[in-house]
Amino acid sequence: MQQQSSEYPVIIQGGMGAGVSNWRLAQAVSRLGQLGVVSGTALDHILARRLQDGDPGGHMLRGLQAFPFRAMAERIYKEYYIPGGKDAKAPYRASTLHTKDNPRELVELCIAGNFVEVYLAREGHENPVGINYLEKIQLAHLPTIYGAMLAGVSYVLMGAGIPLKIPGVLDRLAEHQPVEYPLSVMGAREGESYLMHFDPAEYMESPLPPLTRPKFLAIVSSNTLAATMLKRANGKVDGLIIEMPTAGGHNAPPRGKMQLSETGEPIYGERDQVNIAKLTELGVPFWLAGGYGHPEKLAEALAQGATGIQVGTAFEFAEESGLRADYKVALMTKAKNGRAKVFTDPLASPTGFPFKVARLEGTCSEPESYAARPRICDVGELREAYRTPEGEVGYRCAAEPETVYVSKGGDAAEAEGRKCVCNALLANIGQPQSRNGGRVELGLVTAGDELTSIGRFLHEQQSTYTAADVVNVLLQGVQKEAVP
Ligand SMILES: Cc1cc2nc3c(=O)[nH]c(=O)nc-3n(C[C@H](O)[C@H](O)[C@H](O)COP(=O)(O)O)c2cc1C
Repeated sequence: MQQQSSEYPVIIQGGMGAGVSNWRLAQAVSRLGQLGVVSGTALDHILARRLQDGDPGGHMLRGLQAFPFRAMAERIYKEYYIPGGKDAKAPYRASTLHTKDNPRELVELCIAGNFVEVYLAREGHENPVGINYLEKIQLAHLPTIYGAMLAGVSYVLMGAGIPLKIPGVLDRLAEHQPVEYPLSVMGAREGESYLMHFDPAEYMESPLPPLTRPKFLAIVSSNTLAATMLKRANGKVDGLIIEMPTAGGHNAPPRGKMQLSETGEPIYGERDQVNIAKLTELGVPFWLAGGYGHPEKLAEALAQGATGIQVGTAFEFAEESGLRADYKVALMTKAKNGRAKVFTDPLASPTGFPFKVARLEGTCSEPESYAARPRICDVGELREAYRTPEGEVGYRCAAEPETVYVSKGGDAAEAEGRKCVCNALLANIGQPQSRNGGRVELGLVTAGDELTSIGRFLHEQQSTYTAADVVNVLLQGVQKEAVP
């Protein structure tokens, strides 16, 4: 049975990691009655860095003051807050990299970082807010989801993998029950399983009432995966987001052997087409994503039986997003002048997934900037877990120094062309790491093919637009009254 679409948003502002869909953007969209979604990626690093930047506006402090675990909040604030902010040239503190058994301090930072982002996005209104995670970034799943739930998140959205075991985690965390999650370990032998554990009781400072179990939306890119999620998940999947390969961020690889076009981009064919009519038979609400940021596309999606659309790129360039202003202005200018280019890079992301990259001088999209960067892996969100010859779990990243990667059993060919997406994404939101010798990490902007047409949200004479401008334009597709 198709559910009542009125209980669901028509527009989902897609999660954009890391920190692009921040609490400000999500709050703006949710206040407008659509679904604002914060990115849950790397919020531990982001909270720590915002505090080291002196917490401009005092927002992190406000979020931490609302955190139910008071002693934990104080520990974190005391540990990272630098009054007035760190010296601009000084590096941020080295991060603790995630592993299967994270140290307590890191787990606390994950819980609090996710709490603060959702709390701030929900501040001052009653509308639902969602959080987005990538299944592939598994090592922090359990405490991060718990932190978001403590703040009353209404939706958890997850793609980039097959999140079959997340719905059950949500059910248990709502009751503050211990949870586990199977870590994917490359080279694991048959019968070996590597479970991550998290018990809220070890972190709670006083008993709490049960939490709301958020709705779970799985992000998938094919009919098969959509059906699998509904059939095999260990709990309720409340809806689906179907993401096409024009979407910003990581894209699902084409089916079959990867074929590249003359420009070196993955070729998507017939087999990658989604049968939308078939999705309506699944009986859950679904949203279409990837190039749907136009009123006509919203109207088309609704006519095809979708509950609505998920839009990323259009919101990425809104004033409220976390993308740093100089990158926003430069790319909007290019878009207006018809010079914006997006390249679907089959190699850049260490995950091995195609990754959309906006060409921009002074960022790692440019071969000379990429070549000038020594390989360093010190954020580690995208590290892959592998089985060591001793049967332990090791961690490696195809973008780390090649010799190190190979010494961990990685294939040298896999390292070619890989970029440090972790450092670049933090640079994109104005938190670049400074290195000894004064080098500062450069960004690498991801955007969907829609980048070329974002000028459509600008009013005459204006050089920027807001999330409300995007929502207003899109809602023309459902002939609703424009939102003030
Ligand atoms: C800058 C940027 C970052 C993104 N990061 C994520 C992410 O971390 N997780 C995710 O599931 N999707 C991510 N996406 C995809 C969006 O959530 C959304 O599905 C997509 O942008 C929709 O297509 P559109 O860009 O054509 O509107 C990202 C998109 C952009 C533009």
